[in-house]
Amino acid sequence: GKSLVVAIDGPSGSGKSSVSREVARRLRAAYLDTGAMYRAVTLHCMRTGIDLTDSPAVEAATRSIDLVISISPDRESVLIAGTDVTSAIREPEVSSAVSAVATTMGARAELIRRQRALIAGAAHRIVAEGRDITTVVAPDAEVRVLLTASEEARLRRRGDQLGGTQTAAQLKRQVTERDAKDSTAADFTQAADGVVTLDSSELDFEQTVAALLTIVRSVA
Ligand code: C5P
Repeated sequence: GKSLVVAIDGPSGSGKSSVSREVARRLRAAYLDTGAMYRAVTLHCMRTGIDLTDSPAVEAATRSIDLVISISPDRESVLIAGTDVTSAIREPEVSSAVSAVATTMGARAELIRRQRALIAGAAHRIVAEGRDITTVVAPDAEVRVLLTASEEARLRRRGDQLGGTQTAAQLKRQVTERDAKDSTAADFTQAADGVVTLDSSELDFEQTVAALLTIVRSVA
């Protein structure tokens, strides 16, 4: 049976994905990046000419997409109908369009259903991260954490992640504006009841991983 579900939410640039993946490695757990699923649906719609403002069409595409996502922290891979889109879903064009899928409620319902199935199907332990994992996807997880960071820290991290190629205005669009749009669909700006807040503004990567592992050990 499943021994442990660790649910982690947070805004973009909080370091959520890299920290969650490393925590999963240390716990010898599976790792589910739910944002990758929203990104994959977005890319699929863009590539097949589906209008992202057409909610019924986006919902239908989400229901029918052949999406395979690896839940191993050591093998990040996302396939759409067998095509590897692992890096394509990280392109800035996808980042700026993804909120359209996130705010399509029928698409969310379908992805939430698939995420719950992936979590239920994981053999042992799993770390799942996103925007609504602690509140909607896995509200009964043993460990629930909201990973936050100041806007300044988040803009800096996303800038570093993109190799310093983005202007300040581009970064602000990708981080702050995307969060504002996303938070209309899932509230990850404050911790729900029973969710532990971890502010990583003053912590480096290693310290954030250690702090998260301490939280896991204190409750699990
Ligand atoms: O985490 P990441 O930045 O890759 O997520 C991409 C997008 O997917 C977010 O901006 C948000 O629109 C959406 N998302 C969501 N719910 C989740 C995870 C991601 O709405 N659980």
